[in-house]
Formats: sequence, C-alpha cells, structure tokens
Amino acid sequence: MTFDVFLARVYQAFTVTTEQLFITSRLFDREISEGLANKPSSLAMLPSYLTKPTGHEQGIFLALDFGGTNVRALLVELKGCGKSTILSRVDSPLIDPDGYYDYTLPTATACELFDFLADKLSQLTQPTQEYPLGHAFSFPFRMTDQNNAVLLYWTKEIATADVVGNNIVNLLNDAFARKGISNIKSSAILNDSVSALMAAAYQDNRTDIGSICGTGHNTCYLEPNPPWSSGRSMYINMESGNFNKVPENIYDRLLDEKSDRPGAYRLEKMCSGRYIGELLRLVMLDLIANKALLSNSTAYLDAYSLTGKDLNTLLTDTTPHLESIAQWLNQLGYKNSSLSDRTCLQKIAALITRRSARLAASTYAATLLHIDPELKQPHVIAIDGSLYEKIPGYANTIKETLSELLGTRASKITCELSQHGSGIGAAVAAATTLSLKRF
Ligand code: BGC
Repeated sequence: MTFDVFLARVYQAFTVTTEQLFITSRLFDREISEGLANKPSSLAMLPSYLTKPTGHEQGIFLALDFGGTNVRALLVELKGCGKSTILSRVDSPLIDPDGYYDYTLPTATACELFDFLADKLSQLTQPTQEYPLGHAFSFPFRMTDQNNAVLLYWTKEIATADVVGNNIVNLLNDAFARKGISNIKSSAILNDSVSALMAAAYQDNRTDIGSICGTGHNTCYLEPNPPWSSGRSMYINMESGNFNKVPENIYDRLLDEKSDRPGAYRLEKMCSGRYIGELLRLVMLDLIANKALLSNSTAYLDAYSLTGKDLNTLLTDTTPHLESIAQWLNQLGYKNSSLSDRTCLQKIAALITRRSARLAASTYAATLLHIDPELKQPHVIAIDGSLYEKIPGYANTIKETLSELLGTRASKITCELSQHGSGIGAAVAAATTLSLKRF
C-alpha cells in the first residue's frame, strides 16, 4: 500500500459523516428513554437532588472541584443577579510533578486523598468563620439526597483505593474530623457537568444542558418528567461518556482493549482529553511502522505519553514551515521531520478533535430533541473543559454540527463556555440548599 493510500485510510477512519451522526443521535435518544425507563442502557441517567437556582442566591461559599488530574479549592462570593466572584483559590495536581505523591494510583488510600483535599480547603478559610461547601466531583455516583453520594466506579484511569462503593461526603467529613476542621459544612455534592449547568443557569435560566469537554466527557440536562419525582424537574447526569453506540475505528478498538475498563466509556475514549492524545500516539506509531510518516525514525512513544495539550500544540502552529511542530517532534526524539510529516500530523490532530466535537454535538442534538421535540423554546448548553475552551475550531465545530443535524431549528440553541463552571456551580448548588435568610 502506498503512503497516500495509507494516509487516506487514516483520514477516513476519523471522519464521521452526517448520516453516521444522525444515526448516533437517534441511538443516543433511544438510550435516554431506555435509561429513564430503567431498561438496559449505556446511559446511567443518575438523578441529582438539587433545585434550579433562581439567580438571586448570595453569600460566601467554599467550593471543591475534584476533576481528573487536578483539584481546585475555591472561595466564591455569590452576589445575586447571576453575578459571582472567585475570592481566592488553590490549584493542586493529584500527581506531584516532582514525584512525591500520586493520589490516583491504587497504592494511594482514600484517607490520604481526602486528607489532601481537606488541607487544600482549609487553606482558604478563617478559623472563626463557618463555610458551606459545594463539592463538584467529576465521577459517577449515585445520590440518595443532595449531600449523599456513593462512588459507582472510577473513570479516566484513576484507581485510588477504598473510594469505590463509599460515600464521598462521609469520606471528606471524616478527613475534616481527623484534621480538627469544624468550620467547613458539606452542603451539596454534584457531578461537574451538573455544576457547569448550575453555574450557567445562575446567570441565564434558559440553560438546561451542561457538558464537559475536558479530561473527561459527560453531559447532563434538566429532565422535565423524571420517573423518580412526579411533577418536579430534575438534573440528570447521563454519564454520556459511557455511550457505546458509536462508530468506532481500529485505533479506538486498540485503545479500548488496553484501557483499565475495556468496553466501558466508549464515547469518552473517542472524545476526551484523557484519551485523544493516546489516539494520536496510536496513529503515529502505525504510520511510522508502515513508513508513511517520519521515515528512518527509531524513537518510541510510551502509552499515554501524549495528551490533549500535544494536540493543541499541533493545532496552534501557524508558522509557514510548522516550526513548533518540528520542535515538538524533536523533543519526542523524532529528529529531521519533513514538512509533509508535520502537515500530516497537524491534519490528524484536526481530524481527531473534529470528530470529538462532532460526536459530542450529536449527543447534544439528541438531548435537545428529548427535552423539547419540536424545539419550540430557546435552550442554552453550558460547556466547560479544556477542549471546548482551548482547541482551535472545537466550539465552532459543535455549533456547525448542531446546524447540520437540526437545520434552522439550531438558531434556538446557544452554546456557552461555562468557565470555572465546576467551582462556581458547586457554590451555587451549596447556596440552593441553604435558606437565603442565613446570608
Ligand atoms: C466521568 C464523569 C465526568 C466526566 C467529566 C467522566 O470520566 O465519568 O462523571 O463528568 O468525566 O469530568
């Protein structure tokens, strides 16, 4: 097979046609209905027991944003009228860059992890003041009320011991007790997608879908007729990353086979920052092995050594000879790349991220049609995450794909970046659980 034919095959593998998107969207819609009816579905449809914000919530709140690779503790002031300010924040990686700790490994215990989180939060507090806490926890959990959540399983290749099957709020409260912290009061726990939605709904009550396009991928929405509560709408975390009726290619299958949980989180493995770097690596190695790229190179890339940031580097190089890409390749050990190698890599990065945005958009189209089959009302989709925020063309591709799937009805839909949505939404959630009189 010639290079050109080989490259064309790779390009084709990452292209999703309009027809495929329509099918994906219809299948997603079906999984929503099956999940709500408690029938087998790849969408977990996990209800959240929080109420819609009014936009008038006020006060000072602590927020904890526990994502895939970072933890962020924030002190947030909600000012009412949809306005908020981050008063202070502490950002900490879960894996120490100098190698002193790694709270994501199975050798790390729940106590170690939650003690670390408690420390970060207490750094933002004054001993004489009491703080309600909202906790955005970016993993699947089952709730029994707004402040009780049992972790179902880890995702994004995190494997800290003794957390799965336990109540996250209790684990954090136990850490507060161990550390003698009595002025932080856990008030609400919510998935980060719900947090993105609530942060945006605080400002604009037309927001009824929240999504994360970052390290992980997930979408939630405001279900008008939940089977669990008659007459009251509810936020539902779909855990849409687990959607499995997606058009996969050979690289997706390779990635899945070697992942921690083969078969699970198929959409997330095609869409999210945790995995798109690995897809790029698999394509690169295949092209190199077939002498269609970087000929004479002997360098090797370890599994998961490429991340969403690397795709960003490839996509943001606008120099005529793609010098930043040449430098990037040099650092990886691929010396003397040709311009055609670099152009090819840029194109592959564009295809991988474009596919991610198109698949995400097809699930948004399905969710919108589930909520409002005729699309009579305006809807806002709040999206947080590094892919949506930083990858060139990502946000625009989502918008275009919605038009491709919904036609002129897409004019009713607005996609908004919910920046810092996880932290602010957690504060908003905490506020909705408390009486406004207190503030
Ligand atoms: C988790 C979701 C989360 C998403 C985005 C996924 O891996 O399962 O709960 O919302 O990542 O962080």
